[in-house]
Amino acid sequence: MRFVEPQGRARRCRALAGLALSCLVTACATRNAADAIATELAQSFEAQSGVMLDRLQQSPDQALCSEPGAAASSASLAQRRAIERAARDGVRFPSGAPPSPQAWLGDWRRGERIAQSGVGLQTSDRPGTEAGGNCYGCHRLAPTEIAYGTLGPSLTGYGLRHPPDEAGLRDTWIRLFDSHAFDACSVMPRFGARGILSEEQLRDLLALLLDPQSPVNR
Ligand code: HEC
Repeated sequence: MRFVEPQGRARRCRALAGLALSCLVTACATRNAADAIATELAQSFEAQSGVMLDRLQQSPDQALCSEPGAAASSASLAQRRAIERAARDGVRFPSGAPPSPQAWLGDWRRGERIAQSGVGLQTSDRPGTEAGGNCYGCHRLAPTEIAYGTLGPSLTGYGLRHPPDEAGLRDTWIRLFDSHAFDACSVMPRFGARGILSEEQLRDLLALLLDPQSPVNR
């Protein structure tokens, strides 16, 4: 998906600016204005490199979490809890053995590469590029890192706070597989549920977070 050619982009920018101005004037009083902006935006993208326009369709949970005032309404609170339950029910745990560090933890060195990689699922990627987790974009991981995002909490020492016993393994797996199991409106990507990362990649990330030898825990 990418913006259309420069002339088209300029024309659409002007159209969007006009719409935004009319929204300010009317305080976006009508849903029509919001729909018109959504339509203009949708027409500004085209499919590219396997990134298709269905990305522009919000899932029901995205739509709910985008509603102004949703957090305050008790109706949407019930919907949020329902989304969280459904996310939890949809988690696929690692195949085979029951939770134990030997059975579930992959290789933290590979996990570190996945956590520091932001490629995948972008229009600038060659089709078929394996996605990374882009964890560093939102979290601090190893204490030696100097560049990291702060949208999410620091994960430095995560494995010391969450020992890799059965509860630690399961809860962390659920968090990586589908962040909506904990919060329907979480901004953290739903790595397993949306097929962004494979089971093997998730095991490697689990090791990065929980293995005592991982730089996250040293
Ligand atoms: C777009 C930002 C973003 C990205 C990318 C992201 N996260 Fe998160 N993560 C968050 C936020 C925000 C939270 C706080 C809880 C919430 O809102 O869901 C969080 C919470 C967590 C937690 C729970 C922390 C705790 O102390 O309980 C873990 C573990 C975690 N993320 C791991 C990861 C890993 C591993 C990756 C990469 C595979 C990753 N996150 C990628 C935003 C992100």
